[in-house]
Amino acid sequence: MQHAMQYAMQHYLGLSEYHLRQKQQEYPVHYEPERLINAHLLVCGMSGTGKSYQSLRLLASAVQAGIEVDVFDVHDELHGIPGANACRYSQATGYGYNPLELDIDPHTGGVNRQIEYLLGLIHEVSPQFGVKQAMVLRNLLVDTYALAGIYPDNPATWQRNSITESVRKQLTDARNWQALKQYYPTLDDLKSYGKRKLTALTLGGDNKCLSALEQLTRHYKRLNALQGKYAKASSDDELDKLGKQLTSSKEHCTSSYAAFIEAMQSGRELEDMLKYDSADTLASVLQRLELLNAAGIFRANPPPFGNAPARVHQLKALTDEQQILLVKLRLRAIFERHKQAGATNSGTQLRHVIFLDEAHKFFSKDSSDIINVIAREARKFGIGLWCASQSPTDFPDSFLTNVGATLILGLHPTHWQMATAKLRLGKDTLKYIRAKEVVAVQLRVAGRAEPPFGNVIVG
Ligand SMILES: Nc1ncnc2c1ncn2[C@@H]1O[C@H](COP(=O)(O)OP(=O)(O)OP(=O)(O)O)[C@@H](O)[C@H]1O
Ligand SMILES: [Mg+2]
Repeated sequence: MQHAMQYAMQHYLGLSEYHLRQKQQEYPVHYEPERLINAHLLVCGMSGTGKSYQSLRLLASAVQAGIEVDVFDVHDELHGIPGANACRYSQATGYGYNPLELDIDPHTGGVNRQIEYLLGLIHEVSPQFGVKQAMVLRNLLVDTYALAGIYPDNPATWQRNSITESVRKQLTDARNWQALKQYYPTLDDLKSYGKRKLTALTLGGDNKCLSALEQLTRHYKRLNALQGKYAKASSDDELDKLGKQLTSSKEHCTSSYAAFIEAMQSGRELEDMLKYDSADTLASVLQRLELLNAAGIFRANPPPFGNAPARVHQLKALTDEQQILLVKLRLRAIFERHKQAGATNSGTQLRHVIFLDEAHKFFSKDSSDIINVIAREARKFGIGLWCASQSPTDFPDSFLTNVGATLILGLHPTHWQMATAKLRLGKDTLKYIRAKEVVAVQLRVAGRAEPPFGNVIVG
């Protein structure tokens, strides 16, 4: 990472409309994140009011101040920041990040945490993903890590190198399994392991062991039913008849159990059947992963940002689900990195700006969601979360009432009532807004009382 000299960011927003109108004074209004309660920012405006224009100016100021920047651009409009590198995620480029890489912090990281995080994300984007599917995916992940020698209860095994697809291919082609062990497994490892299990679970066919197990289950059910009947029978005739049936059923069970034991190969067949539920469930899990990864977001193929301190992630070609998965995995990685680096000396310094376009779609009510964690806790680690959206009404109150700076560039009248109710924003201030000329700004300066919005004449 290139670390340019850092300056406290000071961004010129425009002239205070009040001072100009009432006092004929030119009073400049600046965005200075380090003076505010936090470096989070909200830019709202309906289409054409200048969200992209103002966001680009703000981002350019951040880059100029030596602040690291990650922009998540869903409309392909934010790549023109001087000094920034842009990369597009798509089926054609196949850029992605290995979701099996671990956070190695013994307290907050590790195998189980990563698995729960991934399962939570997959459930968030595909609520139809069921309990059984989640169990199967959890077991697949645990087994894939275990095959690589990485275990939930042994933090010493969590540390590996990051792999790329090309390195993986080189080592696999050379059959250099020893070297491969130094790297994290990838989704490809999980998929090929899953496919092997699927073949093993596909009943009939050439798998004698599972056919025998299935037969045993059938015979055992029949034996149970007969025993039930025998217990209830009263006439001698009936008891005699059922007794004979019971004997023969027991023989069937014994011989199919023997056949099952005989046909066992790995010795893990029964365990696998319990772990992987059924061939159908396992197949549906693999299919779901295939779909989510259709554009390659889970490939171990990071975009070539090089040393650029400002990165624009172009997400337009991804589906909503894929955008959410990619963004939340990156947010977590960024947050963990800064947590490892520790709190900033001043406690107010801004080191890293995360910019989310159409940000409302990444928020959720879940307080443990990474975006809410960042909104709450990121300040001391020097992270500012900058959000752009059509309207402030789509954000949780916890964010609206705690964001350091809010810029309203023009709201649709249908949102006025809700906006004035949720924010310290008077109808008069809203009425003075003129797209691309006058905006409403609220800056929550640290140690001061909650300020109302004021109008600012932008350049
Ligand atoms: N303050 C300004 N001064 C001059 N031109 C501006 C200003 N703000 C915006 N514009 C221009 O107005 C047009 C619309 O602005 P912009 O694309 O930033 O809107 P937007 O809010 O991002 O819209 P959308 O929601 O459709 O993306 C652009 O051509 C932009 O360059
Ligand atoms: Mg725009």
